[in-house]
Amino acid sequence: MIQRTLGKTGWQVGVMGFGAWGIGGQWGKVEKNAAINSIRAALDCGVNFFDTADAYGNPPGISEEWVGEALASVRDKVIIATKAGNFARRDGHPLAFTTPLHVELCCEASLHRMKIDCVDLLQCHLAQCTEPDIWFEAFDRLLRKGYIRAFGISTNSIEVVKAFNRRGDCATCQLDYSYLNRSAEADVLPYCQENNIGTIIRGPLDKGIATGKFTRDSKFDDWVRRNWNEGDGRETLHKKLDVVDKVRFLENDGRTLAQAALQFVVTHPAVSVAIPGAKNVDQAQANATAGEALLSDDEYAKVCEATA
Ligand SMILES: NC(=O)c1ccc[n+]([C@@H]2O[C@H](COP(=O)([O-])OP(=O)(O)OC[C@H]3O[C@@H](n4cnc5c(N)ncnc54)[C@H](OP(=O)(O)O)[C@@H]3O)[C@@H](O)[C@H]2O)c1
Repeated sequence: MIQRTLGKTGWQVGVMGFGAWGIGGQWGKVEKNAAINSIRAALDCGVNFFDTADAYGNPPGISEEWVGEALASVRDKVIIATKAGNFARRDGHPLAFTTPLHVELCCEASLHRMKIDCVDLLQCHLAQCTEPDIWFEAFDRLLRKGYIRAFGISTNSIEVVKAFNRRGDCATCQLDYSYLNRSAEADVLPYCQENNIGTIIRGPLDKGIATGKFTRDSKFDDWVRRNWNEGDGRETLHKKLDVVDKVRFLENDGRTLAQAALQFVVTHPAVSVAIPGAKNVDQAQANATAGEALLSDDEYAKVCEATA
């Protein structure tokens, strides 16, 4: 697995991490055994960065519980990142975050669910957060207590990243980036590179579209993808499938389109780690092993041209 430094944390991370949203069963049922086995399969293939959130799972929090359980025996060898900000939002009761105590309370609950004393990275999950000072105060207290080792923001908004890095100590930014969504190349990725902010890439497979496994006739029944069945969602899916067809030249005997899609993301020099979601062992292994290579200069240039 290719290694990178995660911004100012200085931590060495494999370029392919593991995103633990899907294993919580929020969009497509995943049994506990399959979830735990997927996490361990990624670990066995060299993944050392795992991303979860207090809001992930059905019920919320189950993703953190399973991540904690799966990684308990290797806790000191892996980096665990979680997020606060969206717990109970799905149920129509978003927390207010009007005081640092709300952030601290969420963090302590996350530690409890994962059965750990300290989480390596706590990220603000509010992509449009307008009150960074409340979060700074909470992060500072949590750092002093030893409950977190670093903090970051999850957003694609350049204004929000800049606000979270106002003091110069924001360690990471989590952002949506794939060959189907390259907007971050214009602002967030270069800003992070210039300011030594580690980048954590979510959605690198665009919820499966970038793997090339869907067709114009595909129908979806899960909570997240069912709005792709009609209207604007369907139109967007079809437009993206046109782009997928343009990059099918990346598939070959040794590499699936899903793996090439992941390699595209980590070929960008500002990217520290991609966190594809996997719902089973096969996906986890395929995604992790994609981290052994980048695209060639020629392939990268052709994908950029095809997806511009
Ligand atoms: N900060 C935020 O607000 C935020 C938002 C979204 C995600 N995230 C983080 O980013 C992670 C990844 O994002 P994501 O889960 O939205 O999307 P993704 O990684 O782009 O896509 C994941 C989905 O693609 C399918 N898939 C994965 N590997 C595959 C393979 N090798 N071959 C074929 N299909 C494959 C699986 O779904 P099926 O098998 O059901 O098709 C899987 O759930 C999340 O787990 C989470 O940690 C963060």
